[in-house]
Amino acid sequence: MLIEKKFVQMSLELNLFFARIMKEHMIFMEAGLLIKNSNLILEADQLKKSFEELLEETIELSNGVISQAAVDSREFVTPYTLKAENTVESLTGICINQNLTLKELELKSKPDFNCPPDLEEHVFQLNNRAINLIVEIINFKETVLSQVENCKLFTFIYPDMQEHLIEEAKFYLKNLIDLQERKIPERDVLRTEVFWDHIMGDHAEFIRGLLDPTEKDLFNRANDFAILFEKLLEETENATKGNIIKVTKKNLEATKEIAMFKSSATEGLLACKIKSLINPLLADHVLREANRYIRVLKAYLKNY
Ligand SMILES: [Fe+2]
Ligand SMILES: [Fe+2]
Repeated sequence: MLIEKKFVQMSLELNLFFARIMKEHMIFMEAGLLIKNSNLILEADQLKKSFEELLEETIELSNGVISQAAVDSREFVTPYTLKAENTVESLTGICINQNLTLKELELKSKPDFNCPPDLEEHVFQLNNRAINLIVEIINFKETVLSQVENCKLFTFIYPDMQEHLIEEAKFYLKNLIDLQERKIPERDVLRTEVFWDHIMGDHAEFIRGLLDPTEKDLFNRANDFAILFEKLLEETENATKGNIIKVTKKNLEATKEIAMFKSSATEGLLACKIKSLINPLLADHVLREANRYIRVLKAYLKNY
C-alpha cells in the first residue's frame, strides 16, 4: 500500500515521462502519414494537444514534489530536446509546444517536501483523466495499425514500430491503474526488465532499419545492440532468484551503452552529420526511454 506522498510523487513522475512520450508518438505518426489521410493527421494532432495539456498540468504540480533521482535521470528532457523540437517543427510544420520543455528544464526537487492534503485528490483526478486519454490513444494507434495490416493505409512508420507505440501506451496504462489502486507499479522487477529489454531491442532494430544504406558503421553498431538485447531478453526471461542481480547488472551496463549510442546519434542528427530517415526528436525520445530504464535498474540495485 502506497502512502500519499509516494503516490503523488510516483504518479507525477510517471505522467511527466509518459505524457510527453505519448504526445511525441502522435508527432511521429503525423509526420509518417500521407496528406490523403488528413483526417488521421488531424486526429493525431488533437491527441497530441490533449497530452500537451495533461503534461502542462503535471508540470505545474511537479515542481519541488518529484525526487532528485528523477530530475537527475534526464528521462523527462535532455540537453537536446529543445533543439530537436525546434528542428522537427521547422522541418515538418507540426506545432510543438516548446514552453513545456523550457518549464521542464527548470524542474527541481525539494527533499523536505510535505504533501498538502488536497494534492493527493488532485493527482488522483489527473491520473483518471490520463487513463481516459491513454485508452483513446491506444484505440487510435490500433485503428491505424489494423488499416496498415489490411493494406488499406500507407504510412512511413513500420508496423512493428506501431506495435511498439501501442505496447508503451499499454505499459503506461497498467502503471497508472496500479497507482490508482495504491499498488507499487513495476514491483516485479524481472517482468519490468523483460518489457524494457524488448523496447531497447526494438529501438536498435528501428535505428538499423532507418539509417541510410551508406551509414555502414552506425548500421553495424545498431545491429550489435539488436543482437545484444535479444540475448539479454532471453537471459532475463529465464532468470531465477539466484542470478537476478547478475542479470540486472548486465541489463544496466547494456542500457548505459545504448543510451550513449543514442546520445551521440542525436548529436549527429542535430548537426546534420548522419544520413537517415530518423528525425532528431525520435532519437532524443528513445534516449529518454533508455534513461528511464537506467533509473529503474539503478533503483532496484540500490537495495542490494
Ligand atoms: Fe516511445
Ligand atoms: Fe520506444
